[in-house]
Amino acid sequence: MLRSHTCGELTIKNAGTQVTLCGWMQRSRDLGGMTFVDLRDRYGITQLVFNMDTNASLCEQARKLGREYVIKISGVVTERSNKNLKIPTGEIEIMVDAIDVLNESKTPPFTIEENTDGGDDLRMKYRYLDIRRNTVKDALLLRAQVAAGTRNYLNSINFVEIETPVLIKSTPEGARDFVVPSRMNQGEFYALPQSPQTFKQLLMVAGMDKYYQLVKCFRDEDLRADRQPEFTQIDCEMSFVEQEDILNTFEGLIQHLFKNIKNADIGNLPRMTYADAMKTYGNDKPDIRFEMKLVELNDLVKGKNFKVVDDAEVVVAICAKGCSEYSRKQLDELTEWVKRPQIGATGLVYARWNADGSLKSSVDKFYSADDLKTWMEKCGAQQGDLLLILAGETNKTRKAMSELRLEMGNRLGLRNKDVYKALWVLDFPLLEWNEEAKRWHAMHHPFTSPKPEDVSWLESSPGNVRANAYDMVINGVEVGGGSIRIHNKTLQQKMFSVLGFTNEDAQEQFGFLMNAFEYGAPPHGGIAFGFDRLCSLFGGSDSIRDYIAFPKNNSGRDVMIDSPSKISDEQLKELALQIKK
Ligand code: AMO
Repeated sequence: MLRSHTCGELTIKNAGTQVTLCGWMQRSRDLGGMTFVDLRDRYGITQLVFNMDTNASLCEQARKLGREYVIKISGVVTERSNKNLKIPTGEIEIMVDAIDVLNESKTPPFTIEENTDGGDDLRMKYRYLDIRRNTVKDALLLRAQVAAGTRNYLNSINFVEIETPVLIKSTPEGARDFVVPSRMNQGEFYALPQSPQTFKQLLMVAGMDKYYQLVKCFRDEDLRADRQPEFTQIDCEMSFVEQEDILNTFEGLIQHLFKNIKNADIGNLPRMTYADAMKTYGNDKPDIRFEMKLVELNDLVKGKNFKVVDDAEVVVAICAKGCSEYSRKQLDELTEWVKRPQIGATGLVYARWNADGSLKSSVDKFYSADDLKTWMEKCGAQQGDLLLILAGETNKTRKAMSELRLEMGNRLGLRNKDVYKALWVLDFPLLEWNEEAKRWHAMHHPFTSPKPEDVSWLESSPGNVRANAYDMVINGVEVGGGSIRIHNKTLQQKMFSVLGFTNEDAQEQFGFLMNAFEYGAPPHGGIAFGFDRLCSLFGGSDSIRDYIAFPKNNSGRDVMIDSPSKISDEQLKELALQIKK
């Protein structure tokens, strides 16, 4: 070892000890007779001190050190006169007697500080410097801790970690595949897994019983703050289980992680059906940190000659507590906000119950104060509250209202990052109609089993069939999802047929799985958690990028290594690929 200690561990207890430290030169201050240097490594910062009077040449040497130089020093741990109690090493400094410059550094393009002057692009380009900063480093340490906690828990209850291949055939998770051309099989392609779904099911047929894997998944989809083209799942599968067993097992995992990482007791997870989530929150991943539930006002508002609501399929209100005094300007701005294309509402109706007891709305032409009172009562409003109301087609209106609810939650400070509220959303529809393709799509994936009591509707009324599928949602983020699988070849074939696969297509794409089902497939089910999303939740950030060592930007590019990039004509030829010039 080049060093005797790290830069984060020396305290007053070590005073008088001769030590050797290695690290990066964070900052130096030249105070005439004395020079102070902050030496940094992964573990912390230790102050070095050089005295012009006692060792002038060493002091000169210290003054020449540039930012981010890599150095090795030796010296004696000494109590500081000017203590910094904010850091663990703040009571001591090292009286240095030798410096060895291990490597010089160019001046970094941004400061390696908590509040760096580097913009996003620059930091991504020099991500190895960005990782030297505490915030990024701590995020990666947190990630490692979540991974270790996950493995500990799952290992302790007999799960086996098994790797599945990365060069595979397309898995139908609903996104586009990334594909890899095969040199040895020209004109043919591997696909990178969107998830190891089929492999983990095959491992159940293989009798492995409880499988898990922290695994990279690849999806060529539009990126957002909570999506990366390559991301990591905690992927799990179990045999001889029913939905209840899976919910209990993985509720246990999440409770363990919260205890371990946040020292928090998240309690038992409430459960909500998909139908209720959509009705009361307008969203299948409700943020239940705050109430402000959606209330349908249909019966109360229709029939008063207000065409907008008379023509609407649904009229939905939320009650913003204590907002009756919102100014006209604020309400106009909210109206513009809901009319943005991303939200898509046509307008916003509001009704105030003022603190003095009077009632006022933006549609007083059509409704009396008594009418407004009935709305207020239905919404559980009190004096001082404001109702925000949207009307239109059911799904669109609920979706827009869900967005408005979240926005109001933000504006009213109801979405505290330090408060965690998790729940299970259950009974998802098995299928959803895809208007473009004019066919049914699997809402989760085609291996998800229908609820036995709904199977008879598979052909007659596919839209009403509910699935044995569940999502775990924390603070409005879908952190995981899974299902009980079909383990019977006939039902799986029927499912493919409802999804519009011909027998030949199904056989060609999934023959391997259906064949396996003929060799004693056990009842099985599983779940996959978005590992990056879990880490970002624990860390209190909205962006999963902060928890990935080398993430891609919003255009799917790694700007540091400049990828994706062109390949040589030679490589193209070998792969029998042609690029249109
Ligand atoms: P699903 O597609 O719901 O299920 O994915 C599981 C979880 O993975 C996370 N996730 C993502 N995280 C970051 N970037 C992405 N692009 C991304 N896409 C998904 C989400 C999601 O809840 N094979 C099934 C699981 C199963 O049925 O067992 C699957 O992959 O948090």
